[in-house]
Amino acid sequence: MNKKNNILVLPGDGIGPEVCDEAIKVLKHLNYIYKLDIVIEESAVGGSAYEEFGNPLPEDTLKAAKEADAILLGAVGGPQWDDIDYELRPERALLGLRAELDLFANLRPAILSKYLSDSSSLKPEKVQDLNLLIVRELTGGIYFGEPRGRSKSGDSAFNTMIYSKNEIERIGRIAFEAAQKRNKNICSVDKANVLEVSVLWREVISELSEEYPDVELSHMLVDNAAMQLVRDPKQFDVIVTGNLFGDILSDIAAMLTGSIGMLPSASLNSDNKGMYEPVHGSAPDITGKELANPIAAILSVAMMLKYSFNMNEACSAIEKSIQEVLSEGYRTYDLEGSKENKLSTSEMGNKIIEKIK
Ligand code: IPM
Ligand code: MN
Repeated sequence: MNKKNNILVLPGDGIGPEVCDEAIKVLKHLNYIYKLDIVIEESAVGGSAYEEFGNPLPEDTLKAAKEADAILLGAVGGPQWDDIDYELRPERALLGLRAELDLFANLRPAILSKYLSDSSSLKPEKVQDLNLLIVRELTGGIYFGEPRGRSKSGDSAFNTMIYSKNEIERIGRIAFEAAQKRNKNICSVDKANVLEVSVLWREVISELSEEYPDVELSHMLVDNAAMQLVRDPKQFDVIVTGNLFGDILSDIAAMLTGSIGMLPSASLNSDNKGMYEPVHGSAPDITGKELANPIAAILSVAMMLKYSFNMNEACSAIEKSIQEVLSEGYRTYDLEGSKENKLSTSEMGNKIIEKIK
């Protein structure tokens, strides 16, 4: 019997389910035309799982995630869960999945389609052909460092930013290998003028660079990197950085491409098992209105096909079809464009499927 490719979909909250629906439609279509042997299952996660099971990451969901070959996650969170206990918040599910599956390597490409240069917050000439990759460490740093908590009196609170050499080295390798397949340029971002953890980060990345003589390495302080991203983003090829800095810089990079609704991401472990997510969040303000852009979720499926299943042909079929749809002027509501070319969430999904060959 052929081994099936098991995909677990975790639609989550807000616009997560709507954009996942479109991504699933695309997957099923590809499954049909390319005979990919894909089996799709769904489980609850985030606030909606909390409502149903009292837990944002139910045991069954975690078990299904561990058994799946790849995961597609929509989004988690929403204002209705802002006041519940920290341990039960929807975001804990995301952090729990990352930690439990050891998804330490977060790849966040920021690619500007040539048809969308006008949608960027920067002048078109500053961003034309922008194609950068942020490699964010995802299971360590201040997000997970111990000790953490509140003092007994409650008058102070603390977190720990900690990285071991091993953690830095393994994310560094992912970044250097990615750079070798791109423009062979890495910028490592830290705060080595202030933080010991960044001094270690810089040492380990510098030492590692000796194994990749074909890749040019530079270091940049995170405040400067934030500025350079909006001043001259095209100077970057691959950016490698820790969990917190990567979180912040990837939102900046996202905006340069016109809309956060366009950007996919992959979170991988050392076996290339991955969880794939649109970078945008749950967007409660537009939920259920058919206004969400499903492209980030659909591109996340493309990344899944490439990284987890080596299905490069199916991956490029998606990417090509999206470019074609954009070239014809079709836009979702988050993207600038004329009224008559605006498509709803599901119309955009259908349009993309229509063009897939
Ligand atoms: C992201 C998100 C998450 C993070 C939140 C929702 C926990 O902002 O994936 O960038 O901070 O990592
Ligand atoms: Mn973020």
